[in-house]
Amino acid sequence: MENTKPKRILSMYQSTGTFTLGNYLGALRNHIGFQNEGYECLYALADLHAITVRQEPANLRKYTLEAYAFLLAMGIDLEKTIFFIQSHVPQHPQLAWILNCYTQFGELSRMTQFKDKAQKHADNINAGLFTYPCLMAADILLYQADFVPVGADQKQHVEIARDIAERFNGLYSPTFTVPEPIIPQHGARVMSLQDPTKKMSKSDGNNNGCISVLDDADTIMRKFKRAITDSEACVRYSEEKPGVKNLMEIYSCITGKTMEEIQREFEGKGYGDFKPAVAEAVIGELRPIQERFQEIMQDKEYLRRCYKENAEKASAIAHRTVAKVMKKVGFLPED
Ligand code: TRP
Repeated sequence: MENTKPKRILSMYQSTGTFTLGNYLGALRNHIGFQNEGYECLYALADLHAITVRQEPANLRKYTLEAYAFLLAMGIDLEKTIFFIQSHVPQHPQLAWILNCYTQFGELSRMTQFKDKAQKHADNINAGLFTYPCLMAADILLYQADFVPVGADQKQHVEIARDIAERFNGLYSPTFTVPEPIIPQHGARVMSLQDPTKKMSKSDGNNNGCISVLDDADTIMRKFKRAITDSEACVRYSEEKPGVKNLMEIYSCITGKTMEEIQREFEGKGYGDFKPAVAEAVIGELRPIQERFQEIMQDKEYLRRCYKENAEKASAIAHRTVAKVMKKVGFLPED
């Protein structure tokens, strides 16, 4: 057998609030699974990206620490995976600056997320929001990642990272691995429980529509019982029944049951049986993670040690890439 190097996977998450059930089922659970599939994985919290939108300092600190503990509780295995906080690794903004100079105004202007966010935050269209894709390209290219698992909304950003990598490699010589996005197939696109035509989001203003991964069992049950459905009172998978479809997808994602199996399970039963069953599945899924999360949060010293050591490991890899880049660009060496 040929001795092939394991492929490297990198993904990062913004931690501007508590993760939602949508983040958990749609991304986190799938992405973290890669560490057990023979990939070399790096994960990080994108706190530098977070400040492209105004953040309350105390909240940014709190949510970053909580997100770090939550992902550990989910099972990130620090024996084989590097898991760090972006702002602890100075090579990220360092390479981002350089990549800024290899990215065109026009390219960045075409990014759909920029256009959306500029509209949403019309009072704060800062330069960071505009060059956000260059920082994200730096995140990826620093580690020579082969694959980047992302949601569909981030695919365009991985594509611009590819373009920047190819451009730089072409101008100088091969420097960066050209990354590929992977958009995990399973993993529900979880919709709001109150408006199933909209993605579940912690900022949608209607708290009952959104399950937080730290919600207690009673809260989860209450929110599912209030979920918007329809008047047919039949557990049937149909585009015309977006509320029920959403609940079925959540249930399927957690239990592994197919839509047919779910239909059969609830045949002749109404939403009065179905909604609590979905809630129970979610509660059962989150409970052990929440318990571990509480334990980890008790041990701040352990947390600090983990993120510090992991930032050092990440930085050692990132440093090699930056050194190569700086040499090629023509910066005078310090020594
Ligand atoms: N922009 C991503 C998001 O909002 C987060 C992110 C930052 C990221 N850097 C990354 C994702 C690098 C993948 C790779 O979801």
